Amino acid sequence: MISEKISSQQAIDLEDNYGAHNYHPLPVVLSRGEGVYVWDVEGKRYYDFLSAYSAVNQGHCHPEIISALKEQVSTLTLTSRAFYNDVLGKYEKYVTEYFGFDKVLPMNTGAEAVETAIKLCRKYAYEKRGVEENKAEIIVCKNNFHGRTTTVISFSNDEGARKNFGPYTPGFIKVEYDDLDALEQALQSNKNIAGFLVEPIQGEAGVYVPSEGYLTKAKALCEKYQVLFIADEVQTGVARTGQLLAVNHESVTPDILILGKALSGGVYPVSAVFANNKIMEVIKPGQHGSTFGGNPLACAVAIAALEVVKNEKLADNAEKLGKLFRSEMQKIIDSTDLIKSVRGKGLLNAIIINDTEDSSTAWDICIKLRDNGLLAKPTHGNIIRFAPPLVMTEEQLLDCVQIIKKTITEF
Ligand SMILES: Cc1ncc(COP(=O)(O)O)c(C=O)c1O
Repeated sequence: MISEKISSQQAIDLEDNYGAHNYHPLPVVLSRGEGVYVWDVEGKRYYDFLSAYSAVNQGHCHPEIISALKEQVSTLTLTSRAFYNDVLGKYEKYVTEYFGFDKVLPMNTGAEAVETAIKLCRKYAYEKRGVEENKAEIIVCKNNFHGRTTTVISFSNDEGARKNFGPYTPGFIKVEYDDLDALEQALQSNKNIAGFLVEPIQGEAGVYVPSEGYLTKAKALCEKYQVLFIADEVQTGVARTGQLLAVNHESVTPDILILGKALSGGVYPVSAVFANNKIMEVIKPGQHGSTFGGNPLACAVAIAALEVVKNEKLADNAEKLGKLFRSEMQKIIDSTDLIKSVRGKGLLNAIIINDTEDSSTAWDICIKLRDNGLLAKPTHGNIIRFAPPLVMTEEQLLDCVQIIKKTITEF
């Protein structure tokens, strides 16, 4: 049934009729991916400029990741965590050394890993810092995006994500992003602050890069007030921004690090929470877990995906191509009124369209980009995020720049 060929329209109709309408996709139906390219069911090729929201950093169907998957999938896919398996420990050693932490807690999706970090942060506050039971508060930033679970949307300020999903989980204080005074005020506001949860660059909100030094100073404030600095690098991590982690740009070491997405190269849902022993040891058997978290297939895939990042120097490539991309975008901006600005780090970038937030201009540009062979999508109103796979070559990037230029000129 899966191999039966259908047209784009048939695929769209099927999703429309049988799937919940919780997304609003661009009308393009993809059936194959390789490296920086995807193909639609009619055989047209596109540059993927969204990379499954930065999950496919290693490119579509990377042969080494697929080979690791195939080998493990026919050997052992899932065991109960009631028993040991011969891959999990190897993965845990590999991944903790890779990211420089004592311990990892493996999960599956980004939102689950955020939930895990929140639980860990609260438990540490009660058991190691003497915060009064059930009174812990975690500081978060306005316009954050940390996923879709009930607790996570409780501290979102996106009305679409929140409305009619209440009652909301208490225990969160919102402050302006990139505002150290606001952070310090919140840290001083009561004695029950357990942590500060932050995206090093706000991805979903529209690729907001904080001022230089923000993360270093925020970490220092967290140390001053003895609260945990929690970095959500689900989108920014794994080489996307030109360093292995976005916090590496400022040499900041989080107390808790959250990763997902590209940890598996987009091949399988793999997420993880990292911390050192004094924090992670508060979690004891039976207090947290997941049927699929740390399964042998996920572990084998993630090791292969991280080897690709290292061997192919994807962080360096993202850094180099990112600079080129922004300078090329700046040239387009200088020659048109349609785009206001470009911002980003590495290959996580966005252009801001010169129109009102509720206009359809960004969407219409994305439709034209699609027609011209490049797939991107607006994130929040008039902002278009550009995040291609990190395996892109300079020649391919310049080809993409030409497509964007042509599209903007035609518009
Ligand atoms: C920063 C951040 N955290 C968490 C998530 C949630 O990840 P998932 O969709 O895998 O639950 C996302 C997803 O875009 C994200 O960008």
